[in-house]
Amino acid sequence: MSKVFDAYQHVGDLAKFYDEMMTNSGVLGSLALKFFWGLNSSAYEKFLTQAFAGLPKNFSGRLLEVPVGTGVLSLPIYRELDGAEIFCVDLSDKMLDAAKLRAAQLNLRGVTFIQGDVTNLPFANETFDLVLSVNGFHVFPDKISAHNEVRRVLKRGGTFCGSVYVAGQNRRTDLFVKKFCERHGFFSPPYETLASLKKFLRERYGRVEVTNVESFAGFVCVK
Ligand SMILES: C[S@@+](CC[C@H](N)C(=O)[O-])C[C@H]1O[C@@H](n2cnc3c(N)ncnc32)[C@H](O)[C@@H]1O
Repeated sequence: MSKVFDAYQHVGDLAKFYDEMMTNSGVLGSLALKFFWGLNSSAYEKFLTQAFAGLPKNFSGRLLEVPVGTGVLSLPIYRELDGAEIFCVDLSDKMLDAAKLRAAQLNLRGVTFIQGDVTNLPFANETFDLVLSVNGFHVFPDKISAHNEVRRVLKRGGTFCGSVYVAGQNRRTDLFVKKFCERHGFFSPPYETLASLKKFLRERYGRVEVTNVESFAGFVCVK
């Protein structure tokens, strides 16, 4: 856990490069996405669409995002969700600082930022209508506790959605994950494959849809 914490404290300091990679902007960010993740511009757009496929455009209700990171992908979307009460959780205060700055620049209201651990969420059972997790589960060392907590705070009939890295789709990506992301604490094994992710989610949720673009799976699950 502290290896992951330290890794993302540094990313928080280098939020500009991180944001460029996450938004497919800037030369280095786009090159990294294409070379290591196999995502050209059109595949990147599909990745984005699948990551947010479970979040209705007119969503109102209580939403938890964990982990929010710098909020580079999600916070612009929250500007459109006037009727939503939104809580954003992340372990790293540096990542949260970048997210809070972005929220202020976007003049976002109705969003609460909390430094916290996905395996010990500070919310009562069945608090949320929707839990969004974009690129978080391949980072969390204790994935089962994270899944248990997400399910615990989700209302019956609520939606768990987002995206996650899955192994076995692209050999170059898998090598990059093992030799770089894992070694530096950005990712934590074990990872799901597309098939094992489907099976795992279907055992826990009533309705499950899983898609993929290269090594990213998108999921929409109803409790
Ligand atoms: C790859 S980033 C993804 C962030 C964001 N969803 C995005 O798409 O940019 C992973 C984030 O997980 C956070 N994180 C790692 N372990 C965590 C934990 N146990 N609980 C909450 N957040 C955690 C890190 O601090 C980091 O900001």
